[in-house]
Amino acid sequence: MAELLCVKDLTKVYGKRGAVTRALDGVDLSLEAGEYVGIMGASGSGKTTLLNCISTIDRPTSGSIQVDGEELTGLRGRALTRFRRERLGFIFQDCNLLDTLTAFENIALSLSILRTPAAQIRDRVEETAELLGIGDCLDKYPYQMSGGQQQRCAAARAIVTRPALVLADEPTGALDSKSSRLLLERLEVLNRERGATILMVTHDAFTASCCRRVVFLRDGKIFAQLERDGGDRRAFFQQIIRVVTQLGGEMEDVL
Ligand SMILES: Nc1ncnc2c1ncn2[C@@H]1O[C@H](COP(=O)(O)OP(=O)(O)O)[C@@H](O)[C@H]1O
Ligand SMILES: [Mg+2]
Repeated sequence: MAELLCVKDLTKVYGKRGAVTRALDGVDLSLEAGEYVGIMGASGSGKTTLLNCISTIDRPTSGSIQVDGEELTGLRGRALTRFRRERLGFIFQDCNLLDTLTAFENIALSLSILRTPAAQIRDRVEETAELLGIGDCLDKYPYQMSGGQQQRCAAARAIVTRPALVLADEPTGALDSKSSRLLLERLEVLNRERGATILMVTHDAFTASCCRRVVFLRDGKIFAQLERDGGDRRAFFQQIIRVVTQLGGEMEDVL
């Protein structure tokens, strides 16, 4: 498989002399196309910072980030905007749907921005909504949908452009357990059947156990990685819990 994402020696320092936080401290991470990887760690371990650097929302202090061989840290202005729109899909904890647009319009927006022909837009939106199990919500406004449906709508918006890399920060964080499971199940289908490459931050062990590989961050450094070989989610969950236990008190919020 081809390497899709290559992060090398990534460091992010916040603040000035006297009050400095090393949010990321020499992170190396590589994702092949088609992987589904989770990032776990206690609160403050640098998960969001890592995702924000990869999504170009934040700028690293030093280090390199390449997607398909293209260096992101040097991109500016229009090239950066284009890269974000064409190559990346984002799913956040609070899903940021536009209240004045229907689900259909929210999902279609990213395609319109890319100047996709109107005839294609309808097909793509309907197909993606179907995949995420919200085919019957397309005419609804966000306030007419449940939290879980809104989050799946946000996921549809993130993937409708078929981005090379889907980045998700605590996508199940605001959902009840049933809606979380539904979203996770859909993300797995997306990964397995569509070959979507997904990098997902979570502090939740169940959510992490749905990934194929989990990277653990501690104080801005990678301190462990687990791979789900064989495929059994429950066995993987137990492995994850063991690492979390090793980490001890720091990661109590995970359990
Ligand atoms: N904009 C910022 N300014 C200063 N410090 C920050 C900023 N963002 C994050 N940090 C600090 O960087 C560290 C990592 O934060 P973050 O990446 O949000 O952790 P996580 O997502 O794992 O909870 C924390 O110590 C946090 O306080
Ligand atoms: Mg965070």
